[in-house]
Formats: sequence, C-alpha cells, structure tokens
Amino acid sequence: MPVGDDLLAEINRLRKERNAVILAHYYQRPEIQDLADYVGDSLQLSQMAAETDADVIAFCGVKFMADTAKILSPEKIVVLPDMDAGCSLEDSCPPDKFAAFREAHPDHIALTYINCSTEVKALSDVIVTSSSAETILQQIPADQKIIFGPDRHLGGYLSRKFDREMLLWPGVCIVHEAFSETELLKLKEEHPDAPIAAHPECPPTIVDHADYVGSTSGILKFAKEFPGDTLIVATEPHIIHQMEKALPEKTFIGAPGADGNCNCNICPYMALNTLEKLYIALRDLEPRIEIEEELRLKAKKSLDAMLDMAS
Ligand code: 13P
Ligand code: SF4
Repeated sequence: MPVGDDLLAEINRLRKERNAVILAHYYQRPEIQDLADYVGDSLQLSQMAAETDADVIAFCGVKFMADTAKILSPEKIVVLPDMDAGCSLEDSCPPDKFAAFREAHPDHIALTYINCSTEVKALSDVIVTSSSAETILQQIPADQKIIFGPDRHLGGYLSRKFDREMLLWPGVCIVHEAFSETELLKLKEEHPDAPIAAHPECPPTIVDHADYVGSTSGILKFAKEFPGDTLIVATEPHIIHQMEKALPEKTFIGAPGADGNCNCNICPYMALNTLEKLYIALRDLEPRIEIEEELRLKAKKSLDAMLDMAS
C-alpha cells in the first residue's frame, strides 16, 4: 500500500487511467474533500452523477448516494470505497414495512427523503433532498395527502414551516439526533452574537434555536454570507473544513453533543471512507454498486421526478 505523497500520486494516476470522477459529500474527511473533483450536497452529487461523462464514478459518501449515482448512470462503473458506509435513516425504513405502510394509506403519495434504499425509492412517488424538499413540496396540490419518510425531523420541519399535515415515518439520523439543546444553549451564552445554522435532520429542540435551517450547501452559503465573525454549525462537523478554507478569518464552532464537544456528531458511516480505500476502489474497481434493472427503472422514476421538480 503506497503511503503519503505516493498514495496521492497513485490515486491521481488511477483516476486518469480509469477516466474516473471522484465525487465527495461535505461530510467526508478533509483529505478526501481536497482530492475530489467535486464536493457537494446530496442533490448536487446526484446531478453530477447524472451528467458526468466519466467512465467510473468513485463515490465518497454513503451507500444510498452511490446507489443513486448508479440508478441515474447505469452504464458507468460506480465504486464506493467502503460498502459498509450505510445510513441510520436507510436502516430505519425496511422496504417491506414501508410497502405495508403505503398499502394502508392508498390515498397518500410517498414523498421520500433520498436517504433510503433503492427498494424504498422504487416504492415512492417523488424523492427529495434537504435542498430540494421545500421547492418540491410547494408544487404538490394542497389537498394531496402525503406520506413523508424516513426522516421524521425533516418531515416535521417541513410540516411546521408550510402548515402541511403529513404522515411521518419514524426514522432519525443518529448524528443530528445527538446534538444537545442544553450544551447548545451554554455555547450560545459564551458566543451571544454567533448565529446558529442547523440542518433540518436536527430535532426541533435544536432547529428552534437556529437562525438558519437548510441543507449542507445551504449552510455553506449562509456561512459565506452572514455578517458576523463566528458561526455555530449544527450539522456533521466535517463541513467546517469547507468553511475554514473559504473564510479563514472567521470562526466556525461545531454544535456540541451531550459530552460538550462535537466529536460525537461525526457520521460513523461517512468516516468509513479513507484515502487508502479510495485507492483500492480505483485500482480494483471494487466494491462496485450493482442494481437489478427492473428495480433500477422503478427507483429512477421517483428520482427523475425530483430532478424535474427541483430545477
Ligand atoms: P444534504 O447534503 O443533502 O444536506 O444531506 C445531508 C445528509 O445527511 C446526507 O446524508
Ligand atoms: Fe445518514 Fe445521518 Fe450519516 Fe447523513 S449524517 S449519512 S443522514 S447517518
């Protein structure tokens, strides 16, 4: 296994040789973000996956994101450095239980967060990401009944913001669920002028204190625009890397968990990807995402609906 600069050189050699594009989510380790061709939120990465003319997509994110890339670009080889990079939201929503829930509510459409399995996408009508959910929800007629899954906090936030009743699937993100309101308020006392930016996957106990609520790309935009010099960031702390790069003169503080620091809010799934595993994925073109064609086509319908409605 090459190390240090040799490892970077090998990754650079392989990405050219394979005509590969490296896509990375904002929650990836800084060294992966720095090396990626494109760093983005879930919607931006789906759009990149649908548009790229690379032969190989090396997806540095979690499995549902790499699955999405394969659903949208079936002719491409899609590799995920660690196949165990899952998501607690996906785990909370087994397809058989979701299918039964849908059958019990035949007059509802399923508006589903992209953080779910390909099978659940295939059972859904429209997929949303946190950056597209508001635009998409506003296009659905007011009298249309909606099931929203699997993230009950994002669903609850949308429901309150747009005064729209929805049946919520009871899933949560273990990372955003771990922020502590008590510790956040203590931090706010220490930095009374610092606004709070929060991801809508956070529970209401956190979101209700936020000056800005939005997706990772939305939070990043807010970080670039807010007038002060310190920002409290209530989402996975690896996004702070992009903020510090863009605005070295400002201070970004990760919102704390119950232990008073932000390390418990590192996504354990995202953290599974490393430069060494990325190198192996580019070298061996494994672990590779494969999706059965009939399932892929069903899942693509709800993703295409998102891409149409989000633009
Ligand atoms: P976004 O990047 O779309 O805001 O999503 C955050 C997330 O939790 C991805 O798993
Ligand atoms: Fe899933 Fe939460 Fe990790 Fe995002 S941060 S991948 S929602 S567990």
